[in-house]
Amino acid sequence: MASSAMHVSILSLLLLGTTVSIPRASSRAVPSQSDGGASFNESLWQSIGQAISTEARAMYNLGKGGLTYWSPNINVVRDPRWGRALETPGEDPFVVGRYAVNFVRGMQDVPGHEVASDPMSRPLKTSACCKHYAAYDVDDWYGHTRFKFDARVEERDMVETFQRPFEMCVRHGDVSSVMCSYNRVNGIPACADARLLSGTIRRDWGLHGYIVSDCDAVRVMTDNATWLGYTAVESTAAVLKAGLDLDCGESWIVQNGKPVMDFLTTYGLEAVQKGKTRESDVDNALTNLYMTLMRLGYFDGMPRYESLNEKDICSDDHRSLALDGARQGMVLLKNHGGLLPLDPKKFGAVAVRGPHAEAPEKIMDGDYTGPPCRYVTPRDGISKDVKISHDANLTIYFGGINMHIEREGNDREDLLLPKNQTEQILHIAAASPNPIVLVILSGGGIDISFAQGNPKIGAILWAGYPGGEGGNAIADVIFGRYSPGGRLPLTWFKNKYIHQIPMTSMELRPRPDHGYPGRTYKFYDGPEVLYRFGHGLSYTKFRYETSAGNGTAVTLAAGGHCKRLSYKAGAVDATPSCPAIDVASHSCKETVDFNVSVVNGGDVDGSHTVLVYTVPPPEVAGAPIKQVVAFQRVFVKAGGAATVGFSLKVCEAFGIVEKTAYTVVPSGVSTVLLENGDTSSPSSVSFPVKINFST
Ligand SMILES: *[C@@H]1O[C@H](CO)[C@@H](O)[C@H](O)[C@H]1NC(C)=O
Ligand SMILES: *[C@@H]1O[C@H](CO)[C@@H](O)[C@H](O)[C@H]1NC(C)=O
Ligand SMILES: *[C@@H]1O[C@H](CO)[C@@H](O)[C@H](O)[C@H]1NC(C)=O
Ligand SMILES: *[C@@H]1O[C@H](CO)[C@@H](O)[C@H](O)[C@H]1NC(C)=O
Ligand SMILES: *[C@@H]1O[C@H](CO)[C@@H](O)[C@H](O)[C@H]1NC(C)=O
Ligand SMILES: *[C@@H]1O[C@H](CO)[C@@H](O)[C@H](O)[C@H]1NC(C)=O
Repeated sequence: MASSAMHVSILSLLLLGTTVSIPRASSRAVPSQSDGGASFNESLWQSIGQAISTEARAMYNLGKGGLTYWSPNINVVRDPRWGRALETPGEDPFVVGRYAVNFVRGMQDVPGHEVASDPMSRPLKTSACCKHYAAYDVDDWYGHTRFKFDARVEERDMVETFQRPFEMCVRHGDVSSVMCSYNRVNGIPACADARLLSGTIRRDWGLHGYIVSDCDAVRVMTDNATWLGYTAVESTAAVLKAGLDLDCGESWIVQNGKPVMDFLTTYGLEAVQKGKTRESDVDNALTNLYMTLMRLGYFDGMPRYESLNEKDICSDDHRSLALDGARQGMVLLKNHGGLLPLDPKKFGAVAVRGPHAEAPEKIMDGDYTGPPCRYVTPRDGISKDVKISHDANLTIYFGGINMHIEREGNDREDLLLPKNQTEQILHIAAASPNPIVLVILSGGGIDISFAQGNPKIGAILWAGYPGGEGGNAIADVIFGRYSPGGRLPLTWFKNKYIHQIPMTSMELRPRPDHGYPGRTYKFYDGPEVLYRFGHGLSYTKFRYETSAGNGTAVTLAAGGHCKRLSYKAGAVDATPSCPAIDVASHSCKETVDFNVSVVNGGDVDGSHTVLVYTVPPPEVAGAPIKQVVAFQRVFVKAGGAATVGFSLKVCEAFGIVEKTAYTVVPSGVSTVLLENGDTSSPSSVSFPVKINFST
């Protein structure tokens, strides 16, 4: 029951039976979204989308592929056990949303047609799809499968976390498709929920395109979730009525000797004949599908792309993008005593150990990819710089997990490395004359506390699943040709954390009455964090200087749109006359502007991402600890500085989602926090922003 997924990938898309009328997705390698996310580089995400769509057009011209892609996967990683974390850009809804917008723009935009007066005729290079909507991140956790799982979700969490990347994808990415998920949301299967589909995606956000079910979701609703005891015809009628346009049905299910096609095709006519479906609902669905095909030039061509062919697949540009993308996503987790980078002249030979040293394609690429242009293992990459010998006194250990442990349909039981791997690493480290280098391949976080605390393990590098050029990218980092600048897009928890909260509990905020600690960096600040969100070291030292000085004050016109706010007990003497304003009824033109000078105080060139958080006023109850509101990756030469300007829209950057699910700007003193990924350098800066309302 694999949904035809594609995550970040580029290079010669070899599509598996892709057709246009039944969109399938596929892809090539590099890098998986979790380490792609770690680059925090919006132009990289867009370039990856552009490379994929160029190769897709070439494959289409060669008769080997379609033009509709069910990618990207933008579900927020709410729980560190989720098996599909590797397919996504992480745990922060805003960052995931920006990933979606850039990737979709790269996949879809035809230069010169980024905006159009009639969006339903805006041409598409290829059609992307933001999936899986909504509140989906349980696959199979101790028998709780996504097919039957009913996600009980508060409206506040829907608005603030689960829907946010989808909203950004539709509103700012102008995506041409959204996929609904298998699970139920508050009792109703996502694909049969008229409020979620027609109401939110189509009406509120204004989707220009089609809504598709995850593969066999309509069957699952009937056969497995047995929702309301509906027959196949009744389920078909229900999803059409809710706003579904296309059913990804698999034809591998055989009944009475015949393959069963998707439900909408098989039961649609009967649903109309029985008066359960209006013909106009079928017409709407077909209009949405054919409009997408027309925008792709499926019927009358798209001359500017018709000359793309083999030479545009695995081109030099795309290969170097694969290498650069993998390098940009590498996260240096530990580097005691500056063990890395290694000087190949000093260490004439190294020992290469561990199960991923010769990781096969299947591990390097992550899930849902086609074969890469070529494929360089970590061992191949290292061997270009140094001799590999087992007699050497420096060891690089390549470990991690793989698709048997984390993948679609398979959530993790714990956050640990396989036990024998941990034992082997400890054994090798103890026996080694010098501290060893540990390179981890994984999508999700791993509790490697044993390595972080061990002086014989000098450096730890997280390489994600780095794709076809992964071995070269790892070698570039290890031997110092590239200074790592990735930052973790998700919290790496200690294993103890998962015993405090079942995967099936959807709440993001702590629930002291249940002993639940809260989820993601936005709501959890307990001790069970090994590496925090945004962690990432460099070979150089960055510090910030900001133009914001001692802070700033903004006054917004309240215009009678004051909202109540929940305060912590005893935190305010008297409730302000206007505690907060509702952003939906405010013009929200005000901005907070500042510059940050990123100073590279070390002696190597490097890239660094400035992550800008806001911290709500401390007296407000139930607010996030902090939230990312902007980020920018910059390259800074050794000894130099680069200035980055930020203009934060007050309603977006200082808005919080109140208990009532309204987004409001609270009065009081919020804080802007620029947190460095390297905790060893005291270089984070912050400044207060006092917000008042005039009446
Ligand atoms: C769904 O139900 C069908 C029919 O009962 C069954 O064959 C299939 O194995 C079930 N699938 C899952 C994923 O439980
Ligand atoms: C082993 O490591 C030491 C430094 O700890 C170094 O002086 C020596 O040359 C190394 N030997 C080899 C064979 O690499
Ligand atoms: C650990 O055990 C598994 C299963 O027996 C085996 O496949 C794997 O190679 C072992 N790994 C190490 C590092 O010994
Ligand atoms: C910032 O605050 C400090 C201490 O309160 C004060 O001495 C300084 O003059 C202030 N600077 C500006 C630019 O307001
Ligand atoms: C940021 O820097 C630019 C260019 O140096 C300058 O024009 C602008 O006024 C600065 N903005 C702020 C808010 O300091
Ligand atoms: C961001 O990615 C683009 C595209 O790959 C690349 O050219 C650029 O150097 C990257 N920026 C930084 C600061 O690393």
